[in-house]
Amino acid sequence: MPASVVLGAQWGDEGKGKAIDQLANESNWAVRFQGGNNAGHTIVLGDTTLKLHQIPSGVTSTHCNLVLGDGMVVDPWVLEEELDRWHSLTKERPEGKRLFISERASVILPFHRMYDSADKVVGTTGRGIGPAYRDRIERVGIRFVDIPFVIDDSDKIDETVSRMNMQLDSVGVNKKIGRKDFIADLKWIMDRFGDAIRPTGAMIDNALKNGENVLLEGAQGAMLDIDQGTYPFVTSSVTSRANATHGAGIHPGHVENCFGISKAYTTRVGNGPFPTELPYDTGPGNHMAMVGHEFGTTTGRPRRTGWLDMVSLRDSHRINGYTGIVLTKLDVLGGLDELNICTGYDLDGQIIDCMPTSSHDLARCKPIYEIHQGFPALKEQEWIDMAELSRSDRKGFEVLPETALSYVRRIEELSGIPIVSIGIGPDRRASIASLGGPFDVDPEVTTF
Ligand code: GDP
Ligand code: IMO
Ligand code: MG
Repeated sequence: MPASVVLGAQWGDEGKGKAIDQLANESNWAVRFQGGNNAGHTIVLGDTTLKLHQIPSGVTSTHCNLVLGDGMVVDPWVLEEELDRWHSLTKERPEGKRLFISERASVILPFHRMYDSADKVVGTTGRGIGPAYRDRIERVGIRFVDIPFVIDDSDKIDETVSRMNMQLDSVGVNKKIGRKDFIADLKWIMDRFGDAIRPTGAMIDNALKNGENVLLEGAQGAMLDIDQGTYPFVTSSVTSRANATHGAGIHPGHVENCFGISKAYTTRVGNGPFPTELPYDTGPGNHMAMVGHEFGTTTGRPRRTGWLDMVSLRDSHRINGYTGIVLTKLDVLGGLDELNICTGYDLDGQIIDCMPTSSHDLARCKPIYEIHQGFPALKEQEWIDMAELSRSDRKGFEVLPETALSYVRRIEELSGIPIVSIGIGPDRRASIASLGGPFDVDPEVTTF
């Protein structure tokens, strides 16, 4: 198998981390190709919960090489914290050995975080992502490969410090960047990560030529894509399949599979229109938030909740061409009497079946629902037992309660995409794979 892409099919937090962890055992490389530490990818292995922001989620398979790819913006200070956490858990120091930072990735500096803190429109994660990408597009940013040259170029240092301070001033941030601190920061990055900075595109290309398997791990989701999402309430990178190979430094011909990860309902964190949104404090929206623990992995902010939106999933498929859907968090819907699926929008009296481009129009869209019968709530262990039974008796999805199965089959029918795995709990073992499909793997394989 050459390269497989794993993407968020909605507004992020669909469960990409868990899917990557499940596939990593069969893979030699896990590569993040865009975004930065705005991402928060969770992996649950029994009593251990990992929350990864920049380290690719393949880290759990010790034979899997890890790349922070060309298209990323990387915060070295956050990376250091993440690596320290990993070290205290496993005693492993992967940097420079199996974890590599692309020479072409951009550095997130303290300035970018400070500038991002002035955001009042989008509801960003405040991690400096937009400002770091803006510098890259303006061609004034610093890539990892550039750091030694910048340290030796006193004019570039002056120019950069003065630009950063002017920009902080312009958005009312009082803090300033000092010249000495800036140089010290750059030197620290080289001391700490110099060994790990590599031409990763060529390394991945070589691995593919040698028949190795590569996972391309998306962050955020299709509706947060800078070009195709609900602009301006989006992130600052191309989150889609088209950028998966480009942001990793390889060509698109390598891709064989593209998995879209979608919750069995919808969530969104941050601002922006959300047609199927439900009231947060009561009813099914509250049920989803509480049972699904819908709080942001990165910022802890409550996630807004709503019914599954087939209109946005169709658009997401148009952009990404999913070869399979991983439907996550089906367990969370257990205990609701009725389940709704949004099949179209009413925009000022006109029925439409794709998302309008303008966020103003999208905000006026009223969802049109079809209603399905719910299924009972089960305890976490009961869901895991169901998944174990599916594996041991080779039953696939047939172990699901009848009404849950018909909900899943209807999603397949409406989307036209085969569902390859169904999440029924946060734990690695709490998934049901389609028989013989790409997720039909042994979850008991020990990793670290
Ligand atoms: P990511 O950003 O796409 O990797 O997703 P996050 O990790 O931010 O958020 C997904 C959350 O749902 C995490 O807390 C996961 O542990 C959890 N999760 C993933 N799949 C399932 C599932 O099938 N059922 C339940 N109940 N939780 C899940
Ligand atoms: P993962 O990879 C959910 C949202 C923010 C905000 C918008 C822009 O865990 O799915 P940014 O800081 O990127 O400039 O914020 O995008 N956002 C996410 N929402 N999951 C994420 O990542 C997100 N990363 C950014 O809440 O609305
Ligand atoms: Mg997340």
